[in-house]
Amino acid sequence: MDWTCFCVLLMWISCVCSTKRHDDARVTVKNEGITRSSFENHHSDLVKLVGTSGSKIIWVGRNETLYSITPAQDLKLKLVNVSLCNDESEDSDDSKCPYRLSLLSQSADGNLIFCGSANGNTKCCYLTSSYSLIDCFKLENYEPVINEPSLLDGDMLYFTKSEMGLYKANRNKNHNIWSQPIRMELKYLKLISGKGQYEDKVYSFFAEKHKSKDGESDQWISRVSQSCKNDRGGRKGLLQNTWTSMIYAQLLCGRGHDFSQLIDVATLQTDDDIKVYALFRNYWNMSAVCVYNMSKISTIFASSEFNSTNVPADHRPGTCVDNSASLSSEVLKFMPVHPEMKDWVMPENGPLLFRHRHYTHIQVDREQHDTVLLLSLESGGVHKVLEKPVFVIAEYLPFPHGTHITGMLLDTSEKRLFVSSSDEVVQIDLQTCGVYGDECIECMLSRDPYCVWDGLHCTIKAKGRAKDPHDCKMPSAEPSRTELRDETPVVRVPESSRHFLRCPMTSHHATYHWQHGSAREECVDSDQGCLYLIHSMSEAHEGLYTCVSSEDVYNRTVAQYQLSMSRSNAHRLTPVGLLLLIVMSLPVLHL
Ligand SMILES: *[C@@H]1O[C@H](CO)[C@@H](O)[C@H](O)[C@H]1NC(C)=O
Ligand SMILES: *[C@@H]1O[C@H](CO)[C@@H](O)[C@H](O)[C@H]1NC(C)=O
Ligand SMILES: *[C@@H]1O[C@H](CO)[C@@H](O)[C@H](O)[C@H]1NC(C)=O
Ligand SMILES: *[C@@H]1O[C@H](CO)[C@@H](O)[C@H](O)[C@H]1NC(C)=O
Ligand SMILES: *[C@@H]1O[C@H](CO)[C@@H](O)[C@H](O)[C@H]1NC(C)=O
Ligand SMILES: *[C@@H]1O[C@H](CO)[C@@H](O)[C@H](O)[C@H]1NC(C)=O
Repeated sequence: MDWTCFCVLLMWISCVCSTKRHDDARVTVKNEGITRSSFENHHSDLVKLVGTSGSKIIWVGRNETLYSITPAQDLKLKLVNVSLCNDESEDSDDSKCPYRLSLLSQSADGNLIFCGSANGNTKCCYLTSSYSLIDCFKLENYEPVINEPSLLDGDMLYFTKSEMGLYKANRNKNHNIWSQPIRMELKYLKLISGKGQYEDKVYSFFAEKHKSKDGESDQWISRVSQSCKNDRGGRKGLLQNTWTSMIYAQLLCGRGHDFSQLIDVATLQTDDDIKVYALFRNYWNMSAVCVYNMSKISTIFASSEFNSTNVPADHRPGTCVDNSASLSSEVLKFMPVHPEMKDWVMPENGPLLFRHRHYTHIQVDREQHDTVLLLSLESGGVHKVLEKPVFVIAEYLPFPHGTHITGMLLDTSEKRLFVSSSDEVVQIDLQTCGVYGDECIECMLSRDPYCVWDGLHCTIKAKGRAKDPHDCKMPSAEPSRTELRDETPVVRVPESSRHFLRCPMTSHHATYHWQHGSAREECVDSDQGCLYLIHSMSEAHEGLYTCVSSEDVYNRTVAQYQLSMSRSNAHRLTPVGLLLLIVMSLPVLHL
């Protein structure tokens, strides 16, 4: 490790120390609001989830087959009976359909395009709402890969191939298909259509892999490219069928080049802009999220100097023109150097750091003034994270035995997250507010922007009245407190017998303890919560036991028991009976 690395490591350690608390998710959700649905047949790693916000159907593509989920009805995966081989036009003679599903994309206006590939050729069709395929067309000598990003913008289809670059194609074959020679291994992560002032441009986000000098580790550089939607390539011998408007800028996240490997990208539409949430990883496998905006990115492309010599003087490279074939030879000869901006794209924020996390996918949602990040973990879990200030609200465990998550799709209008593995699609209802507990303070401590205290329960914000947290201090807001006291369960335990009291530990950010009279007793932690163990019941153990949690500035009674010793002969245990009881109770305790 060289000196720079060492310094970075020191900075990292100091930042770890300064924000030690709350690295873990506050609560774990294993079942509540989670619905699982399995594929009928065997394994495939290539699963693609498609849908737009407000779309009634979520599409799931896998091998040759298309499935649909209609969340409003039920959550079953339904096989969509369409085949690229039996559309009206041709190929109907094929007894076995040769096409492997190679692209699935939905446009903002709801059109779904569906492509299959075989023997290096591709056929694409649109799917109508009545599940028939129309307007099919063929792409010869091109074979998309289903898990690469794609974009359907009007009737133009954009897709990428890691070793080849960005393509565009449409049905009418005007401005046909585009490829570009590539310098090195690229991993494409997202295609974005420009909006407003930049709606004539298309952007791609990707990570570029370089071999390091020592040959030991791979080095990554992450970039964004911009090109003109109306680019029709150069002319014979000069960028024919190739982009003439593609220019590049480097994305920066973290100090220096800390976070250089782009892992995934999600976008959030704001009033007049698109925010880009980019998930990065660094050499130490730490994760970070950096936030950019498209207006800043397009400004850099429009105004930064180029980081090259011999920049053409008569035409700024990357500017859209009506007929790119008529660009001057000077410009067409300059473009293959992959013109790059001198200005880096800097994040709006400092990076949001996640130290010991290996996140693999990101989705983003906005709930009133709060932004929520959904980040999948390498182990198969999903973190729900509040952006400002960073707070891990919950860890969902959609797959009971852990798995590799292949895709994640957020339905922002219904607040549902779809997560796929090779065998299952799981839906997570992000508004399961009951998991935080049924007291106002618990609801408030959850910091979940989807949830609000309605006076009786922690519930979905849209349904409850938006209240501010101070309401918890008003007596009327806490009807359950006195009820709880009155109903303290009385537990009778036979003399000399073993017993334990249990207190659920919902929050991983709280500390729990038992209070017995003036004595404070620490928890015995177990799967079942915070336990208090009595090895042999005696008079000294009688009295009130209160399990108290402390979190933030709040102390709260979680459970309460009144213990008393029963002296009836019937319950007195002989030494043999006691031994039996001990043996029987051991597995129950899981200690
Ligand atoms: C899907 O394709 C993979 C390889 O691409 C294959 O191993 C798997 O068996 C296929 N699954 C189904 C259900 O056809
Ligand atoms: C699927 O549709 C075809 C006609 O397009 C029909 O012959 C076939 O029986 C259908 N299969 C199922 C399972 O509905
Ligand atoms: C990072 O993770 C990858 C795979 O998960 C592993 O091969 C690599 O050794 C890790 N690097 C460090 C520095 O831990
Ligand atoms: C500009 O080019 C030089 C030489 O190729 C390179 O070292 C430097 O990193 C580039 N700067 C940017 C911002 O890409
Ligand atoms: C976009 O990001 C830049 C910094 O990169 C920031 O100055 C600007 O305010 C942001 N724009 C919006 C609309 O948030
Ligand atoms: C909460 O309990 C701790 C001890 O467990 C105590 O130090 C603290 O003062 C209590 N806070 C409040 C607000 O009662």
